[in-house]
Amino acid sequence: MKELTLWREARLATLSGHEPWGAIEDGALLTQGEQITWVGRLSELPRDAAVAQEHSLHGAWVTPGLIDAHTHLVYGGLRAHEFELRLEGASYEAIARAGGGIRSTVAHTRAASEDALLAPAAKRLAALKAEGLTTIEIKSGYGLSREHEAKMLRVARRLAGQGVQVRTTYLGLHAIPPEFEGRADDYVAACCDDLPSLHAEGLVDAVDAFCENIGFTPAQVERVFQQARALGLPVKLHAEQLSDQGGSQLTARFGGLSADHLEWLSAEGVASMAAAGTVAMLLPGAYHCLRETKLPPIPLLRDAGVPMALSTDHNPGTSPVLSLLAVMQLACIHFRMTPEEALRGLTLHAARALGLSDRGQLLAGQRADFCVWDVDHPRELSYWLGGRPLINRVFGGVPDRE
Ligand code: NIG
Ligand code: FE
Repeated sequence: MKELTLWREARLATLSGHEPWGAIEDGALLTQGEQITWVGRLSELPRDAAVAQEHSLHGAWVTPGLIDAHTHLVYGGLRAHEFELRLEGASYEAIARAGGGIRSTVAHTRAASEDALLAPAAKRLAALKAEGLTTIEIKSGYGLSREHEAKMLRVARRLAGQGVQVRTTYLGLHAIPPEFEGRADDYVAACCDDLPSLHAEGLVDAVDAFCENIGFTPAQVERVFQQARALGLPVKLHAEQLSDQGGSQLTARFGGLSADHLEWLSAEGVASMAAAGTVAMLLPGAYHCLRETKLPPIPLLRDAGVPMALSTDHNPGTSPVLSLLAVMQLACIHFRMTPEEALRGLTLHAARALGLSDRGQLLAGQRADFCVWDVDHPRELSYWLGGRPLINRVFGGVPDRE
């Protein structure tokens, strides 16, 4: 039987129950191994709890650990020069059509060994962890061949050893690789062929695609979704980022975990997501970096009760963002989300977007992944831009700092 640890003198933003933030002042948590076993007021701590170890949190606020549920963290090279080109007026689409964009990252990723990809990805992961990350999703999509997609996914799996949990997503349909130029359907067929063996190797937790004018058509995406379904893998989609392709309806039809980006999402798309329970994954970092002006329909999503998640969308092109707290601030400023919605977006709703029900709230039975913050109120997590409010990060019951 594992020993009980008491975390006392905490103010808890449990994100559960009917109080704003699920707040419990004078709160405490009991953990046992990797799990939370009790949450409540310290005065209501069960008398028979055989506490073996105690930590005082000195009145600090505690939230669930942060979850980044949409990232492209593993890649070769950088694209800072494209950042300059865009500042001079070139569009993301024009750069992509001229052979830059995703394809330029593909060339660097293919040329890199597994170890060469691991080192910079681990450094980026460390930056996210320093702001409270405890679970991350990492996509493939810069290999675009079985060999190089598998390499990326293996790197993602190796990052799991570093005090975070990792979920991997196969994103073969991210761009058409040069050797399939003009033969998009053949490339889609090759991806469908590759998926079963990648899955059999334990490399894939979910399947994603880029449904866009400069990506893949809904009919092509549907083929890879059908293959995912045949393998029992959940799907999600880069949908309606630059135009309305009806990708969110397609995702909803497959019971998808999330539709992501959604700047061009229609009212029909919102309704289909609400009916299917598909999470709206909003990516204010990409919106900000691309200087987008068309907002995702947040009021419609809110009214329809579609859970709104947030993530960095970290990638070298459209969102070189390594700060989860900055994502919260950008979501409040650009998308007018509330600070509480922003926190739920990076915890509870991010967990749902990964199909995980064992994290994202401070509740008995959840994983003991939580953050201890030097703030007077959790709304401050969205208020600051910069600053280092994280006091401690607890992953699976183990604090980073004793
Ligand atoms: O989520 N839109 C497609 N995929 C990424 C961008 C990837 C890239 O430009 O390298 C995104 O924004
Ligand atoms: Fe993305």
